[in-house]
Amino acid sequence: MDCMGKMWRVVPVLLLVFYLQHCAHGEPEVPCYFIFGDSLSDSGNNNKLVTLGRANFPPNGIDFPNGPTGRFCNGRTIVDVLAELLKLEDYIPPYATVSDYRILQGANFASGSSGIRDETGRHYGDLITMKEQLKNYQIAVSRITNILGNDTAAMDHLSKCLFTVGIGSHDYINNYYLPQLYPTNSEYTPVQYASVLINQYFQQLKTLYKHGARKVAIFGLGRLGCMPLEVGLYGEVSDTECVEFINDAVQVFNDRLVRLVDGLNANLTDAHFAYINMSGIQSFDAAAFGFRVRNNGCCGGQLPCLPFSGPCSNRTEHIYWDFINPTEAANMIYAQRAYISETPSDAHPMDIHTLAQFASGEEDDS
Ligand SMILES: *[C@@H]1O[C@H](CO)[C@@H](O)[C@H](O)[C@H]1NC(C)=O
Ligand SMILES: *[C@@H]1O[C@H](CO)[C@@H](O)[C@H](O)[C@H]1NC(C)=O
Ligand SMILES: *[C@@H]1O[C@H](CO)[C@@H](O)[C@H](O)[C@H]1NC(C)=O
Ligand SMILES: *[C@@H]1O[C@H](CO)[C@@H](O)[C@H](O)[C@H]1NC(C)=O
Repeated sequence: MDCMGKMWRVVPVLLLVFYLQHCAHGEPEVPCYFIFGDSLSDSGNNNKLVTLGRANFPPNGIDFPNGPTGRFCNGRTIVDVLAELLKLEDYIPPYATVSDYRILQGANFASGSSGIRDETGRHYGDLITMKEQLKNYQIAVSRITNILGNDTAAMDHLSKCLFTVGIGSHDYINNYYLPQLYPTNSEYTPVQYASVLINQYFQQLKTLYKHGARKVAIFGLGRLGCMPLEVGLYGEVSDTECVEFINDAVQVFNDRLVRLVDGLNANLTDAHFAYINMSGIQSFDAAAFGFRVRNNGCCGGQLPCLPFSGPCSNRTEHIYWDFINPTEAANMIYAQRAYISETPSDAHPMDIHTLAQFASGEEDDS
């Protein structure tokens, strides 16, 4: 590829990402990468499900090498960009189609619309809840054990892998803040709801640890009140930038999540958990990066991106691709800062680059 020649197309601040992705060669930083989450990470697990929460049709994938794949984005998701930064050979395949040959290098279990709670997002149709993603992971672990011959070898392999988990957004946007369809809003205050979610998430993360995960980055929730979906539902005037009471409720969850990460690191032998401060990262100076439109999706505006709807004319000027999910241009910035913190508050207690460097079995000195 004519590497330098293509660089003129890229915004200068993204040069590093572009360089790593197309020009740098080197050893993968981890031998394997397992992904859990929702539409921010899904790479095609919903394609065969009966649901409105699917994205395997144009114009999704318009900027992706393989076209529409099921990614809820014009191009690469945050976990795709992370795979490139980690110098992995390829993107991580969806669990739905991963072969035995590839499964040693990881799998993507994420499912659009899914949440920590089982009922979350159900009005879209079928989905794979976090609980079911963990069941699928356990099936994957048995496949890996068969390939490697025994449990010890499988656990040793998994201890070297990176895991990322990004879940919980839909428990707010497609549950708590849809009181017409879900009762949680009247059952819990925002503080109680954050507790209920965190307690369940705690159990789920312990299950992941029990089945071999040792290097786990957890994406905190982003500024959900700035999503076009929420601005459309709750914004009071057309130029309202964000719905702050939603951001405030989500902040309670994030604060609890940081404490959970500290607790897991303190209590679980050999565990390295890291919190990625998505709400902090998403407070970046968007205008300085050439973004002009912050609360309206490039495809669909404040609605889902539907088959064959025309996307906006300039996709790098939009933060959001559809009414929920960011564009590739935004994902590149988020992934870069999750990988190498730009400010100390971007990741706690470490960024993904640092997390990836831990040798398995290494004691945590903190
Ligand atoms: C497990 O398999 C590895 C090779 O894959 C072998 O070296 C090791 O001895 C085996 N351990 C047990 C307990 O069978
Ligand atoms: C860590 O252990 C302490 C003491 O047993 C317990 O109170 C706390 O809930 C545990 N936290 C986590 C996140 O495991
Ligand atoms: C996340 O980032 C924001 C903005 O930089 C900061 O105010 C907040 O303290 C950070 N949170 C954590 C847990 O570091
Ligand atoms: C798209 O937007 C970016 C950022 O504002 C700008 O640099 C670029 O020239 C625009 N491209 C086109 C084709 O308008």
